[in-house]
Amino acid sequence: MRYFFASLLALALGAHVFAGDPSAMGRVLFQNLCAQCHGAKGEGNLLVKSPSIAGLPEWYLQAQIENFLAGRRGFHPQDPDGQIMRTISQVLNPGQTKQVIEYVSHLPRQMPEATIKADVTAGRELYAARCMECHRFNGEGELAFGAAPLVGLQDWYLASQLKKYQTGMRGVLKEDVNGQKMAVSASFIEDEATLKSVVAYLRTFSKELRKNEAEFGK
Ligand code: HEC
Ligand code: HEC
Repeated sequence: MRYFFASLLALALGAHVFAGDPSAMGRVLFQNLCAQCHGAKGEGNLLVKSPSIAGLPEWYLQAQIENFLAGRRGFHPQDPDGQIMRTISQVLNPGQTKQVIEYVSHLPRQMPEATIKADVTAGRELYAARCMECHRFNGEGELAFGAAPLVGLQDWYLASQLKKYQTGMRGVLKEDVNGQKMAVSASFIEDEATLKSVVAYLRTFSKELRKNEAEFGK
C-alpha cells in the first residue's frame, strides 16, 4: 500500500505533462495505479488475487468500478480482495476512470494458465442449462443483460467470484440488480466439484481464443 501512495504522489507531480493527451494519460494512470496488482499487461496476479482485466469491454469495466465505488462490491468485512479494490476505485475521478478504462479495454486479452483441473463434462452441461442464456455460447458476455465476459479470466478468479455470489459478498444489495441476477444463478452450482467443473469448462473459451488469435497472427 505504501508503494501505491508513493505512485499516487509521483502521478500527481507528473500529471500536467500528459494533460493534453488522454490516451497517454490512460497509460500513465494504469502503469502507476493498476499495474502493480493487475500486471504490466493487465494479466492479473494470483499472489494478490487480482484478475486479468486486459481487453475487458469498457461497459463492463465501468460497471464494476462503479460497483466498487458505490459499495456494491468490496463491502464485506471478510472480503479483503474486494475491499482493496474498493479503496483504489475511490482514488480516481470520473475523467481518470474513463481514461484508464479506455486504455485497459485496448490491451490484448491475456490467456490464463489452468490452475484448477477438473472433468469439464458436468460444467459444460450446467453452462448450457443455466449460464449460456446470459453469458452467450462462447462466454463473451452480453451488454444487454450486463452479463460479464468470462473469457481471458483466470479459473481461480472465476471460482472466487462464484463463491462470493454464493456467500453474500457480491450481488446481495437491493440496488445491485445485475449482481442479484447472478447470485441466483450461482445458487444452482450445487457443490465444490460442480464449481470446479464449470470454471474448468469456462477456461476452454480462453483456449479457443488462443487458437483463434494465433491463427490471426496476434
Ligand atoms: C492493490 C492491488 C490493486 C490495485 C492497485 C488495483 N486493483 Fe483492481 N482489483 C484488485 C483485486 C484484488 C481485485 C479482485 C476483487 C474481488 O475479488 O472482488 C480487483 C478487481 C478489479 C476489477 C474487476 C474485474 C472483474 O472481472 O470484475 C476491475 C475492473 C479492476 N480491478 C480495475 C482496476 C483498475 C482500473 C486499477 C487502477 C486504477 C486497479 N484495478 C488497481 C486489486 C487491485
Ligand atoms: C440471468 C443472467 C445470468 C445468468 C443465467 C448467469 N449469469 Fe453470470 N453474470 C450475470 C451478470 C449480470 C453478471 C455481472 C454481475 C455484476 O455486475 O456483479 C455476471 C457475472 C458473472 C461472473 C463474474 C465475472 C467477473 O469478471 O467478476 C461469473 C464468474 C459468472 N457470472 C459466471 C456464471 C456462471 C458459471 C453461470 C451459470 C451457473 C452464470 N454466470 C449465469 C448474469 C448471469
